[in-house]
Amino acid sequence: MANTILVGAQWGDEGKGKIIDVLTEQADVVVRTQGGNNAGHTVFLGPKKYVLHLVPSGILRKSKLCVIGNGVVVDPVGLVNEIKGLRKLGVKVGSNLVVSETAHVVFPYHRELDAQREVLKGKHKIGTTKRGIGPAYGDKAARVGLRMIDLIHPERFEEKFRRRIKENNEVLKALGAKPLSFKRVHDEYCAAARYLQPFVANTVVLLHHAMREGKDILFEGAQGTFLDIDHGTYPFVTSSNTTAGGACTGSGVPPHRMDRVVGVMKAYTTRVGEGPLPTESAEIADMLHAMGREFGATTGRARRCGWFDSVATRHATMVNGIDDLAVTNLDGLDTVETIKVCIGYRADGKRLDYVPNDAQTLAECKPVYAEFEGWQQPTTACRRWKQLPAKARDYLKAIAELTGGKLAIVSVGPAREQTIFV
Ligand code: IMP
Repeated sequence: MANTILVGAQWGDEGKGKIIDVLTEQADVVVRTQGGNNAGHTVFLGPKKYVLHLVPSGILRKSKLCVIGNGVVVDPVGLVNEIKGLRKLGVKVGSNLVVSETAHVVFPYHRELDAQREVLKGKHKIGTTKRGIGPAYGDKAARVGLRMIDLIHPERFEEKFRRRIKENNEVLKALGAKPLSFKRVHDEYCAAARYLQPFVANTVVLLHHAMREGKDILFEGAQGTFLDIDHGTYPFVTSSNTTAGGACTGSGVPPHRMDRVVGVMKAYTTRVGEGPLPTESAEIADMLHAMGREFGATTGRARRCGWFDSVATRHATMVNGIDDLAVTNLDGLDTVETIKVCIGYRADGKRLDYVPNDAQTLAECKPVYAEFEGWQQPTTACRRWKQLPAKARDYLKAIAELTGGKLAIVSVGPAREQTIFV
Protein backbone atom coordinates (compact mmCIF):
# COMPACT_ATOMS: atom_id res chain seq x y z
CA MET A 1 0.00 0.00 0.00
CA ALA A 2 3.05 2.33 0.35
CA ASN A 3 2.96 5.44 2.54
CA THR A 4 -0.58 6.82 2.57
CA ILE A 5 -1.94 10.02 4.04
CA LEU A 6 -5.60 9.94 4.93
CA VAL A 7 -7.36 13.29 5.26
CA GLY A 8 -10.89 14.52 5.80
CA ALA A 9 -12.11 16.40 2.72
CA GLN A 10 -14.87 18.30 4.53
CA TRP A 11 -15.36 19.65 8.08
CA GLY A 12 -14.31 16.55 10.05
CA ASP A 13 -16.44 13.56 11.04
CA GLU A 14 -16.22 12.18 7.50
CA GLY A 15 -16.02 8.62 8.79
CA LYS A 16 -12.23 8.53 8.78
CA GLY A 17 -12.12 6.04 11.69
CA LYS A 18 -13.83 3.36 9.66
CA ILE A 19 -11.76 3.96 6.49
CA ILE A 20 -8.52 4.05 8.49
CA ASP A 21 -9.50 0.75 10.06
CA VAL A 22 -10.13 -0.75 6.61
CA LEU A 23 -6.82 0.59 5.20
CA THR A 24 -4.87 -0.44 8.29
CA GLU A 25 -5.12 -4.04 7.19
CA GLN A 26 -2.44 -3.31 4.58
CA ALA A 27 -0.31 -0.96 6.71
CA ASP A 28 2.45 -1.81 9.17
CA VAL A 29 2.49 1.47 11.05
CA VAL A 30 -0.34 3.92 11.78
CA VAL A 31 0.54 7.47 12.82
CA ARG A 32 -1.47 10.37 14.22
CA THR A 33 0.24 13.62 13.27
CA GLN A 34 -1.94 16.50 14.47
CA GLY A 35 -4.83 17.41 16.72
CA GLY A 36 -5.45 15.85 20.09
CA ASN A 37 -8.35 14.33 21.93
CA ASN A 38 -10.71 16.72 20.17
CA ALA A 39 -10.84 13.91 17.59
CA GLY A 40 -13.21 10.98 17.95
CA HIS A 41 -12.62 8.12 15.54
CA THR A 42 -15.34 5.50 15.75
CA VAL A 43 -14.72 1.91 14.71
CA PHE A 44 -17.29 -0.91 14.96
CA LEU A 45 -15.98 -4.46 15.26
CA GLY A 46 -18.89 -6.86 15.39
CA PRO A 47 -21.15 -5.71 18.21
CA LYS A 48 -18.36 -3.69 19.86
CA LYS A 49 -18.00 0.05 19.34
CA TYR A 50 -14.61 1.70 19.94
CA VAL A 51 -14.17 5.46 20.03
CA LEU A 52 -10.53 6.50 19.80
CA HIS A 53 -9.44 10.02 20.65
CA LEU A 54 -5.64 10.01 20.77
CA VAL A 55 -4.61 6.41 20.14
CA PRO A 56 -4.34 5.62 16.39
CA SER A 57 -7.12 3.35 15.12
CA GLY A 58 -4.51 0.76 14.12
CA ILE A 59 -4.46 -0.38 17.75
CA LEU A 60 -7.56 -2.49 17.00
CA ARG A 61 -5.61 -4.73 14.62
CA LYS A 62 -2.93 -7.12 15.78
CA SER A 63 0.76 -6.48 15.03
CA LYS A 64 0.37 -2.87 13.88
CA LEU A 65 2.68 -0.28 15.35
CA CYS A 66 0.77 2.85 16.42
CA VAL A 67 2.52 6.18 16.75
CA ILE A 68 1.35 9.45 18.29
CA GLY A 69 3.59 11.83 16.38
CA ASN A 70 5.29 15.08 17.34
CA GLY A 71 2.51 17.20 15.81
CA VAL A 72 -0.14 15.91 18.21
CA VAL A 73 -1.04 17.68 21.47
CA VAL A 74 -1.40 15.07 24.19
CA ASP A 75 -3.62 15.26 27.24
CA PRO A 76 -1.70 12.68 29.31
CA VAL A 77 -4.54 12.00 31.75
CA GLY A 78 -6.93 11.52 28.81
CA LEU A 79 -4.40 9.22 27.14
CA VAL A 80 -3.98 7.08 30.29
CA ASN A 81 -7.76 6.73 30.56
CA GLU A 82 -8.02 5.82 26.88
CA ILE A 83 -5.33 3.14 27.20
CA LYS A 84 -6.98 1.74 30.34
CA GLY A 85 -10.38 1.74 28.60
CA LEU A 86 -8.95 -0.13 25.59
CA ARG A 87 -7.23 -2.68 27.83
CA LYS A 88 -10.52 -3.24 29.66
CA LEU A 89 -12.12 -4.03 26.30
CA GLY A 90 -9.42 -6.64 25.69
CA VAL A 91 -7.31 -4.56 23.27
CA LYS A 92 -3.56 -5.08 23.62
CA VAL A 93 -1.78 -1.80 24.31
CA GLY A 94 1.92 -2.14 25.05
CA SER A 95 4.94 -2.02 22.80
CA ASN A 96 2.53 -1.48 19.88
CA LEU A 97 1.99 2.15 20.99
CA VAL A 98 4.66 4.84 20.90
CA VAL A 99 4.28 8.52 21.82
CA SER A 100 6.64 11.19 20.52
CA GLU A 101 8.96 12.83 23.02
CA THR A 102 8.33 16.16 21.33
CA ALA A 103 4.52 16.06 21.29
CA HIS A 104 3.23 18.97 23.37
CA VAL A 105 1.27 18.39 26.57
CA VAL A 106 -2.26 19.69 27.20
CA PHE A 107 -2.82 20.95 30.77
CA PRO A 108 -6.02 21.73 32.68
CA TYR A 109 -5.28 25.47 32.30
CA HIS A 110 -5.45 24.98 28.52
CA ARG A 111 -8.91 23.47 28.86
CA GLU A 112 -10.01 26.18 31.27
CA LEU A 113 -8.71 28.93 28.96
CA ASP A 114 -10.43 27.27 26.00
CA ALA A 115 -13.74 27.35 27.89
CA GLN A 116 -13.26 30.90 29.22
CA ARG A 117 -12.38 32.31 25.81
CA GLU A 118 -15.48 30.73 24.33
CA VAL A 119 -17.60 32.42 27.01
CA LEU A 120 -15.90 35.75 26.32
CA LYS A 121 -16.58 35.42 22.60
CA GLY A 122 -20.31 35.10 23.30
CA LYS A 123 -22.23 34.80 20.05
CA HIS A 124 -18.94 34.84 18.13
CA LYS A 125 -17.74 31.64 19.78
CA ILE A 126 -16.01 28.94 17.71
CA GLY A 127 -17.86 26.04 19.28
CA THR A 128 -14.66 24.24 20.27
CA THR A 129 -14.59 20.79 21.86
CA LYS A 130 -13.19 22.49 25.02
CA ARG A 131 -10.30 20.03 25.12
CA GLY A 132 -7.74 22.83 25.40
CA ILE A 133 -6.44 22.30 21.87
CA GLY A 134 -6.16 25.96 20.81
CA PRO A 135 -4.36 27.15 23.98
CA ALA A 136 -1.98 24.15 23.87
CA TYR A 137 -0.97 24.86 20.26
CA GLY A 138 -0.80 28.54 21.24
CA ASP A 139 1.83 27.72 23.88
CA LYS A 140 3.72 25.62 21.34
CA ALA A 141 3.85 28.54 18.88
CA ALA A 142 4.77 30.95 21.70
CA ARG A 143 7.58 28.55 22.68
CA VAL A 144 6.41 28.17 26.24
CA GLY A 145 4.81 24.72 25.95
CA LEU A 146 5.92 21.60 27.79
CA ARG A 147 6.57 18.43 25.82
CA MET A 148 6.26 14.75 26.66
CA ILE A 149 10.01 14.61 27.25
CA ASP A 150 9.62 17.26 29.98
CA LEU A 151 6.69 15.41 31.52
CA ILE A 152 8.58 12.15 31.96
CA HIS A 153 11.55 13.81 33.68
CA PRO A 154 10.09 14.69 37.13
CA GLU A 155 12.83 17.10 38.25
CA ARG A 156 12.70 19.05 35.00
CA PHE A 157 8.91 18.92 34.89
CA GLU A 158 8.33 20.39 38.37
CA GLU A 159 10.33 23.54 37.74
CA LYS A 160 8.93 24.21 34.27
CA PHE A 161 5.37 23.42 35.27
CA ARG A 162 5.54 25.69 38.34
CA ARG A 163 6.34 28.65 36.08
CA ARG A 164 3.64 27.82 33.58
CA ILE A 165 0.83 27.29 36.06
CA LYS A 166 1.76 30.54 37.84
CA GLU A 167 1.40 32.57 34.66
CA ASN A 168 -1.77 30.78 33.56
CA ASN A 169 -3.38 31.18 36.97
CA GLU A 170 -2.88 34.94 36.67
CA VAL A 171 -4.64 34.87 33.30
CA LEU A 172 -7.45 32.71 34.67
CA LYS A 173 -7.95 35.06 37.60
CA ALA A 174 -8.07 38.05 35.25
CA LEU A 175 -10.80 36.26 33.31
CA GLY A 176 -12.77 35.72 36.50
CA ALA A 177 -12.03 31.98 36.67
CA LYS A 178 -10.67 30.01 39.61
CA PRO A 179 -6.90 29.39 39.68
CA LEU A 180 -5.71 25.77 39.61
CA SER A 181 -3.89 24.01 42.45
CA PHE A 182 -0.23 23.38 41.62
CA LYS A 183 -0.10 20.31 43.84
CA ARG A 184 -3.26 18.68 42.54
CA VAL A 185 -2.34 19.05 38.86
CA HIS A 186 1.34 18.27 39.48
CA ASP A 187 0.51 15.02 41.29
CA GLU A 188 -2.06 13.99 38.71
CA TYR A 189 0.37 14.65 35.84
CA CYS A 190 3.27 12.89 37.58
CA ALA A 191 1.08 9.81 38.00
CA ALA A 192 0.16 9.96 34.30
CA ALA A 193 3.85 10.44 33.42
CA ARG A 194 4.82 7.27 35.32
CA TYR A 195 2.15 5.33 33.42
CA LEU A 196 3.11 6.75 30.02
CA GLN A 197 6.91 6.74 30.42
CA PRO A 198 7.40 3.32 28.72
CA PHE A 199 5.51 4.53 25.65
CA VAL A 200 7.56 7.70 25.06
CA ALA A 201 10.31 7.60 22.40
CA ASN A 202 11.98 9.40 19.52
CA THR A 203 9.32 8.68 16.90
CA VAL A 204 11.16 10.38 14.03
CA VAL A 205 14.05 7.95 14.33
CA LEU A 206 11.60 5.08 14.80
CA LEU A 207 9.57 5.96 11.66
CA HIS A 208 12.68 6.32 9.50
CA HIS A 209 13.91 2.98 10.81
CA ALA A 210 10.55 1.43 9.88
CA MET A 211 10.79 2.91 6.37
CA ARG A 212 14.31 1.52 5.92
CA GLU A 213 12.85 -1.88 6.77
CA GLY A 214 10.30 -1.42 3.97
CA LYS A 215 7.31 -0.93 6.26
CA ASP A 216 4.20 0.84 4.98
CA ILE A 217 2.89 3.78 6.96
CA LEU A 218 -0.65 5.09 7.17
CA PHE A 219 -0.99 8.69 8.37
CA GLU A 220 -4.28 9.04 10.19
CA GLY A 221 -5.58 12.57 9.69
CA ALA A 222 -7.92 14.06 12.26
CA GLN A 223 -10.60 16.74 11.75
CA GLY A 224 -10.96 17.88 8.13
CA THR A 225 -9.66 20.23 5.44
CA PHE A 226 -11.98 23.11 6.32
CA LEU A 227 -10.94 22.97 9.98
CA ASP A 228 -7.28 23.49 8.98
CA ILE A 229 -5.70 26.52 10.71
CA ASP A 230 -4.40 27.80 7.33
CA HIS A 231 -6.81 26.41 4.77
CA GLY A 232 -10.04 26.23 6.75
CA THR A 233 -12.81 28.69 7.45
CA TYR A 234 -10.70 30.76 9.85
CA PRO A 235 -11.37 31.58 12.68
CA PHE A 236 -13.88 28.71 12.83
CA VAL A 237 -11.15 26.10 12.63
CA THR A 238 -9.03 23.93 14.87
CA SER A 239 -5.44 24.93 15.68
CA SER A 240 -3.47 22.43 13.61
CA ASN A 241 -2.76 21.65 9.95
CA THR A 242 -5.36 19.02 9.19
CA THR A 243 -4.39 18.96 5.50
CA ALA A 244 -1.87 16.57 3.95
CA GLY A 245 1.18 18.74 4.70
CA GLY A 246 0.50 18.30 8.42
CA ALA A 247 1.33 14.62 8.06
CA CYS A 248 4.93 15.52 7.16
CA THR A 249 5.54 18.21 9.79
CA GLY A 250 3.66 16.21 12.40
CA SER A 251 5.74 13.07 11.92
CA GLY A 252 9.13 14.00 10.49
CA VAL A 253 8.49 11.93 7.35
CA PRO A 254 9.46 14.09 4.35
CA PRO A 255 7.05 14.89 1.47
CA HIS A 256 8.91 12.81 -1.12
CA ARG A 257 8.31 9.67 0.97
CA MET A 258 4.53 10.06 0.69
CA ASP A 259 3.00 7.92 -2.04
CA ARG A 260 -0.73 8.47 -1.91
CA VAL A 261 -3.33 10.79 -0.41
CA VAL A 262 -6.78 9.39 0.32
CA GLY A 263 -9.57 11.93 0.88
CA VAL A 264 -12.53 10.82 2.95
CA MET A 265 -15.87 12.53 2.41
CA LYS A 266 -19.44 11.84 3.36
CA ALA A 267 -22.06 11.47 0.64
CA TYR A 268 -23.48 14.69 2.15
CA THR A 269 -21.88 17.32 4.42
CA THR A 270 -21.78 17.83 8.19
CA ARG A 271 -20.10 20.20 10.59
CA VAL A 272 -19.97 20.59 14.38
CA GLY A 273 -19.38 23.95 15.98
CA GLU A 274 -19.87 27.39 14.48
CA GLY A 275 -18.82 28.78 11.11
CA PRO A 276 -20.07 28.80 7.54
CA LEU A 277 -21.65 25.71 5.97
CA PRO A 278 -23.10 26.88 2.63
CA THR A 279 -25.24 23.82 1.92
CA GLU A 280 -26.75 23.55 5.43
CA SER A 281 -30.31 22.30 5.18
CA ALA A 282 -32.94 21.66 7.87
CA GLU A 283 -34.53 19.08 5.56
CA ILE A 284 -31.48 16.77 5.48
CA ALA A 285 -30.56 17.51 9.13
CA ASP A 286 -34.02 16.54 10.39
CA MET A 287 -33.99 13.38 8.32
CA LEU A 288 -30.53 12.24 9.49
CA HIS A 289 -31.14 13.11 13.15
CA ALA A 290 -34.46 11.25 13.06
CA MET A 291 -32.49 8.21 11.85
CA GLY A 292 -30.28 8.60 14.97
CA ARG A 293 -27.34 9.67 12.81
CA GLU A 294 -24.95 12.58 13.06
CA PHE A 295 -24.28 13.05 16.73
CA GLY A 296 -20.64 13.85 17.62
CA ALA A 297 -18.35 11.04 18.87
CA THR A 298 -16.40 13.35 21.20
CA THR A 299 -19.01 15.78 22.51
CA GLY A 300 -22.33 14.09 21.61
CA ARG A 301 -23.43 17.35 19.94
CA ALA A 302 -25.95 17.10 17.08
CA ARG A 303 -24.01 17.83 13.92
CA ARG A 304 -25.17 20.45 11.44
CA CYS A 305 -26.03 18.79 8.12
CA GLY A 306 -26.18 19.84 4.49
CA TRP A 307 -26.08 18.58 0.93
CA PHE A 308 -22.83 17.47 -0.69
CA ASP A 309 -20.70 20.50 -1.53
CA SER A 310 -18.46 19.76 -4.49
CA VAL A 311 -16.97 23.26 -4.49
CA ALA A 312 -15.57 22.48 -1.05
CA THR A 313 -14.39 18.95 -1.85
CA ARG A 314 -12.74 20.15 -5.08
CA HIS A 315 -10.84 22.68 -3.01
CA ALA A 316 -9.85 19.86 -0.63
CA THR A 317 -8.48 17.85 -3.57
CA MET A 318 -6.41 20.85 -4.56
CA VAL A 319 -4.82 21.64 -1.18
CA ASN A 320 -4.27 18.01 -0.15
CA GLY A 321 -3.33 16.54 -3.52
CA ILE A 322 -6.00 13.88 -3.07
CA ASP A 323 -5.51 10.86 -5.35
CA ASP A 324 -8.20 8.48 -4.15
CA LEU A 325 -11.61 9.17 -2.69
CA ALA A 326 -13.46 7.25 -0.01
CA VAL A 327 -17.16 8.13 0.17
CA THR A 328 -18.84 7.24 3.45
CA ASN A 329 -22.41 7.22 4.75
CA LEU A 330 -23.93 6.57 1.34
CA ASP A 331 -26.72 4.73 3.15
CA GLY A 332 -27.67 8.00 4.89
CA LEU A 333 -29.22 9.06 1.57
CA ASP A 334 -31.07 5.78 0.92
CA THR A 335 -34.54 7.25 1.52
CA VAL A 336 -34.12 10.63 -0.18
CA GLU A 337 -36.29 11.32 -3.22
CA THR A 338 -34.26 14.11 -4.77
CA ILE A 339 -30.63 14.62 -3.79
CA LYS A 340 -28.99 18.00 -4.22
CA VAL A 341 -25.31 18.60 -4.94
CA CYS A 342 -23.75 22.03 -4.73
CA ILE A 343 -21.82 22.76 -7.93
CA GLY A 344 -21.08 26.46 -7.41
CA TYR A 345 -21.80 29.43 -5.16
CA ARG A 346 -23.50 32.70 -5.82
CA ALA A 347 -22.27 35.69 -3.83
CA ASP A 348 -22.83 39.38 -4.41
CA GLY A 349 -24.48 38.67 -7.77
CA LYS A 350 -21.43 36.71 -8.97
CA ARG A 351 -20.97 32.99 -9.55
CA LEU A 352 -18.00 31.47 -7.70
CA ASP A 353 -16.48 28.06 -8.40
CA TYR A 354 -13.99 28.17 -5.53
CA VAL A 355 -14.18 28.54 -1.75
CA PRO A 356 -13.62 32.19 -0.79
CA ASN A 357 -10.96 32.73 1.89
CA ASP A 358 -13.11 34.98 4.01
CA ALA A 359 -15.47 33.07 6.32
CA GLN A 360 -17.98 35.92 6.18
CA THR A 361 -18.10 35.87 2.38
CA LEU A 362 -18.47 32.09 2.47
CA ALA A 363 -21.34 32.44 4.96
CA GLU A 364 -23.08 34.75 2.46
CA CYS A 365 -22.64 32.32 -0.45
CA LYS A 366 -25.81 30.74 -1.78
CA PRO A 367 -25.30 27.28 -3.26
CA VAL A 368 -26.09 26.53 -6.88
CA TYR A 369 -27.49 23.01 -6.94
CA ALA A 370 -27.68 20.15 -9.41
CA GLU A 371 -30.32 17.57 -8.62
CA PHE A 372 -30.07 13.78 -8.71
CA GLU A 373 -32.86 11.25 -8.49
CA GLY A 374 -32.56 9.25 -5.27
CA TRP A 375 -32.30 5.44 -5.46
CA GLN A 376 -34.76 5.01 -2.57
CA GLN A 377 -33.68 1.53 -1.58
CA PRO A 378 -31.33 0.23 1.08
CA THR A 379 -27.64 -0.01 0.16
CA THR A 380 -26.42 -1.39 3.50
CA ALA A 381 -26.26 -4.99 2.25
CA CYS A 382 -24.31 -4.13 -0.93
CA ARG A 383 -20.77 -5.47 -0.96
CA ARG A 384 -19.75 -4.91 -4.57
CA TRP A 385 -19.96 -1.93 -6.90
CA LYS A 386 -22.35 -3.74 -9.24
CA GLN A 387 -24.73 -4.47 -6.35
CA LEU A 388 -25.33 -0.77 -5.74
CA PRO A 389 -28.47 0.66 -7.36
CA ALA A 390 -27.66 2.28 -10.73
CA LYS A 391 -28.81 5.69 -9.46
CA ALA A 392 -26.45 5.41 -6.47
CA ARG A 393 -23.57 4.57 -8.81
CA ASP A 394 -24.43 7.58 -10.98
CA TYR A 395 -24.49 9.79 -7.91
CA LEU A 396 -21.12 8.50 -6.68
CA LYS A 397 -19.51 8.86 -10.11
CA ALA A 398 -20.82 12.43 -10.34
CA ILE A 399 -19.55 13.58 -6.94
CA ALA A 400 -16.16 11.95 -7.52
CA GLU A 401 -15.84 13.63 -10.90
CA LEU A 402 -16.88 17.01 -9.48
CA THR A 403 -14.38 16.56 -6.64
CA GLY A 404 -11.59 15.56 -8.99
CA GLY A 405 -10.36 12.31 -7.45
CA LYS A 406 -10.57 8.62 -8.26
CA LEU A 407 -13.42 6.87 -6.47
CA ALA A 408 -11.73 4.03 -4.57
CA ILE A 409 -13.90 3.12 -1.58
CA VAL A 410 -17.60 3.39 -0.76
CA SER A 411 -18.91 2.77 2.74
CA VAL A 412 -22.53 1.73 3.24
CA GLY A 413 -22.55 1.23 7.01
CA PRO A 414 -20.35 1.23 10.07
CA ALA A 415 -19.15 -2.40 9.92
CA ARG A 416 -15.84 -3.38 8.31
CA GLU A 417 -17.63 -5.59 5.80
CA GLN A 418 -19.95 -2.77 4.69
CA THR A 419 -17.17 -1.51 2.44
CA ILE A 420 -17.05 -1.56 -1.34
CA PHE A 421 -13.73 -1.31 -3.18
CA VAL A 422 -14.39 0.28 -6.54
P1 IMP B 1 -11.13 22.58 18.79
O1 IMP B 1 -10.34 21.71 17.89
O2 IMP B 1 -11.66 21.88 19.99
O3 IMP B 1 -10.41 23.86 19.14
O4 IMP B 1 -12.45 23.05 17.99
C1 IMP B 1 -12.39 23.93 16.88
C2 IMP B 1 -13.46 23.55 15.85
O5 IMP B 1 -13.10 22.31 15.27
C3 IMP B 1 -14.85 23.40 16.41
O6 IMP B 1 -15.78 23.79 15.43
C4 IMP B 1 -14.96 21.89 16.63
O7 IMP B 1 -16.29 21.46 16.61
C5 IMP B 1 -14.18 21.39 15.44
N1 IMP B 1 -13.58 20.06 15.66
C6 IMP B 1 -12.51 19.77 16.41
N2 IMP B 1 -12.24 18.45 16.36
C7 IMP B 1 -13.15 17.91 15.56
C8 IMP B 1 -13.39 16.59 15.09
O8 IMP B 1 -12.66 15.64 15.40
N3 IMP B 1 -14.44 16.41 14.25
C9 IMP B 1 -15.22 17.45 13.86
N4 IMP B 1 -15.04 18.69 14.26
C10 IMP B 1 -14.01 18.93 15.11
